[in-house]
Amino acid sequence: TYVVTENCIRCKYTDCVEVCPVDCFYEGPNFLVIHPDECIDCGLCEPECPADAILHEDDLSDAQQPYVELNAELAEVWPNITERKAPLDDAEDWNGKEDKLKYLER
Ligand code: SF4
Ligand code: F3S
Repeated sequence: TYVVTENCIRCKYTDCVEVCPVDCFYEGPNFLVIHPDECIDCGLCEPECPADAILHEDDLSDAQQPYVELNAELAEVWPNITERKAPLDDAEDWNGKEDKLKYLER
């Protein structure tokens, strides 16, 4: 499965949701996640993210491993999103910043 990782936080560009053939993105206040049981591993979303936040689970660094569980957990409680919307304010400023997990809103 593919996984949304830290650099999505406070950016949420949402380009990814437009290309997903099975509509398996779920939206929180400042982050999106992929439902691991619904993702068909097509890989279409990965190059769409301006923040390079989407990776295959096999390509995650050790530091990114917690995002596997985080995607699974939050995809169960957040609503589905299938249409692109405007990125968050200051998305460009936050793109590439480190240690954004503490800003994750649930
Ligand atoms: Fe959707 Fe394909 Fe991305 Fe999985 S890899 S989230 S199925 S676009
Ligand atoms: Fe997040 Fe990238 Fe999608 S920033 S909302 S994973 S396009």
